[in-house]
Amino acid sequence: MSLPALYLSRLLPPPVMAAIAEEFRLVSQPAPLPPGSASLRQGLREAQAAICTLTEQIDRDVLREAPHLRVIANYAVGYNNIDLEAAKERGIVVTNTPDVLTEATADLTWALLLATARRIPEGHGLVRQGAWTGWEPTQLLGADVYGKTLGIVGMGRIGSAVARRAVGFRMPVLYCNRRALAPSASDPTWRQASLPEVLTRSDFVSLHVPLTAETRHLIGAAELRLMRPTAFLLNTSRGPVLDEAALVAALREGRLAGAGLDVYEEEPALHPDLRSLTKVVTLPHLGSATLSARVRMGLVCIENIRAVLEGRPAPNRVA
Ligand code: DGY
Repeated sequence: MSLPALYLSRLLPPPVMAAIAEEFRLVSQPAPLPPGSASLRQGLREAQAAICTLTEQIDRDVLREAPHLRVIANYAVGYNNIDLEAAKERGIVVTNTPDVLTEATADLTWALLLATARRIPEGHGLVRQGAWTGWEPTQLLGADVYGKTLGIVGMGRIGSAVARRAVGFRMPVLYCNRRALAPSASDPTWRQASLPEVLTRSDFVSLHVPLTAETRHLIGAAELRLMRPTAFLLNTSRGPVLDEAALVAALREGRLAGAGLDVYEEEPALHPDLRSLTKVVTLPHLGSATLSARVRMGLVCIENIRAVLEGRPAPNRVA
């Protein structure tokens, strides 16, 4: 019996590659870096199923050239890289990888929060460069975290997981979300508020909304003006949710204490000033980057594809 034809856009961790080899016939030669547009199109032309990542733009034109494609399993929880309408029109199921990366991404958000508030990269650099001359009473003074207010914009799985970690830091949580949380999903110390209130009253604001037409530049110049000059902004969601130029202006003018960024508007490029501002900690989109999360993401993709090809409902269908 011939194995189903799978287009895989990137090399995934070895346990996922081994699982793929058992069940599918690859129609691509995945590499660590994104495929070029021609190779993406060529691969999808032959494939019955695809595993793609957030950097592959799967638009209407690309889908039009994929006559056999039945399912795209996006190796990410976000799926703003895929034209869902066009997929639906062609009867192509689209799935994502929720849950398995929630805790890894929440951990990374806290790593960024602490690194930004306590100036960890600057301290690390000082020691590594041999420039540290000894303890100083006023060296690299940072901001307190314990007891401060944490603002969460978007209280879905990852936003809630970030909020849950605030307990140990005795941080009250203010959150804004389109809907109120079910009592079972909520913590009595969390309080729902409007976006302006979250921005105005929080010491740390962390973004956790998906990227959609409504959330593009959700945090722009006007929103940044609402934040305290002592506050920090964190983004581990999607770059375009935040207006990078407006963020740079706010930091330059001292209207914000700092920012921790894992995602950017035009990855892998970033606003040039973000590289030089010491108040900013920049990571290369590492939210879900633990071995176990990335393996589980791959296995979730395989399970979704298997379900569609066997005529069962896909567990993580988004379109
Ligand atoms: C996601 O899942 O959307 C992340 O950004 C990539 O892991």
